[in-house]
Amino acid sequence: MDSFYIKDASKYVGKEVTVKGWLYNKRSSGKVNFLLIRDGTGIIQSVAVRSEIPDEEFKLFDKITQESSIIVSGVIGEDSRAPGGYELSLKHIEIVQISEPYPISPKEHGVSFLMNKRHLWLRSKKQHAILRIRAEVINAVRDFFNNEGFILVDTPILTPCACEGTTTLFETEYFGEKAYLTQTGQLYNEATCMAFGKVYCFGPTFRAEKSKTRRHITEFWQVEPEIAYAELKDIMDYAEKVIVYIVERVLEKRKDDLITIERNIKPLENIKSPFPKITYSEAVKLINEKGSYFEWGDDFGAPQETLISDSFDKPIHISHFPTKVKPFYMKRAPEDEKLALGVDVLAPEGYGEIVGGGQREENLEILEKRLKEDNLPRKAFEWYLDLRRYGSVPHAGFGLGIERVTTWICGIHHIRESIAFPRLLDSIYP
Ligand code: 4AD
Ligand code: MG
Repeated sequence: MDSFYIKDASKYVGKEVTVKGWLYNKRSSGKVNFLLIRDGTGIIQSVAVRSEIPDEEFKLFDKITQESSIIVSGVIGEDSRAPGGYELSLKHIEIVQISEPYPISPKEHGVSFLMNKRHLWLRSKKQHAILRIRAEVINAVRDFFNNEGFILVDTPILTPCACEGTTTLFETEYFGEKAYLTQTGQLYNEATCMAFGKVYCFGPTFRAEKSKTRRHITEFWQVEPEIAYAELKDIMDYAEKVIVYIVERVLEKRKDDLITIERNIKPLENIKSPFPKITYSEAVKLINEKGSYFEWGDDFGAPQETLISDSFDKPIHISHFPTKVKPFYMKRAPEDEKLALGVDVLAPEGYGEIVGGGQREENLEILEKRLKEDNLPRKAFEWYLDLRRYGSVPHAGFGLGIERVTTWICGIHHIRESIAFPRLLDSIYP
């Protein structure tokens, strides 16, 4: 017999099926017992009537505790009163394991309790829906870049050099040498784009973020495209296109999950091109006009990002940042040496930066000077400088944070729920 999954119940009306799953909840009205069973793809109400099931199996009902693993079989029927619209009339119940008293009950628990039980919390409806949406976000980014002719080239996780500043490095020992967990695949993407033209990498990246915020985790997943012969405007275009594509895909494939987590879908339906484009200087002006004092030259923090994004109902591009708030590799604007050709995309609804990227400095002498100014070890970057020695061309790319995007699309408060096992400043367990 084919394996049956609850999500396919509509195709099996009138047929006998076997569900291998776990008990989500149960109730009884004496003669009739109701078991809510989940199998990872959905939840189905199963009905055990005394006369239709062997007596000893009917009696198992009292023993089955929440999250016990069970295998049941019965006939699928339509029933508009049942959650999901389908019901299973049970013929057999088999217990695989009786669960010990389950620590997560339908009553409210505090977040720190739930975070400690994250390995179990994943089974609950809301967390389950969020992680399915995350999976769709990932499918969408892969499809988008593959369809646009990008080649996936994986970049290393253990690296000898810092890219996004030296304050957030996780250091480790590598056979007598210092190594770091990568902050970004970018530097390697710059090499592979010179070999393949359009590339992307997708993998975990690490930042030893010392601050506790609802937008930062220390291990997060980035998709990073990089394009040879591209300029700032080209990658702004791609960033916008991929965001529109992701949102469309989630709305198309995961609307049921958005409904489960009570996400207001209206603002997501509005995510269409074109997105507004402003410069850093215009953003500073906007913040000051809104009555919050902000000095030109500083980097935006969460409060400024929220003020800016509150003025728009779509993601917004902010470009031309002061060079001193951006990394050494960013190309300077030809018209003004104080400005970097970088872009951040802020999500609407106060979710902050979801994309960071820009055009790279392609000139050898300028880059050598920057490394010196930033006190970066020349030896670790020698290979990177080679890219400016052998056929250097203008190029640009960006990184999109999967958890930031998932958090925004799900409309959840904290980034920690957008990944199965978040790594935070104060927790590496479970
Ligand atoms: O803006 P960032 O630091 O840019 C880079 O790493 C570039 N080298 C990428 C590139 O051009 N290839 O990070 C890119 C994105 C951010 O916009 C954000 O979405 C996410 O990565 N991000 C984080 N997400 C969760 N927790 C953190 N601590 C994050 N830091 C960055
Ligand atoms: Mg950034």
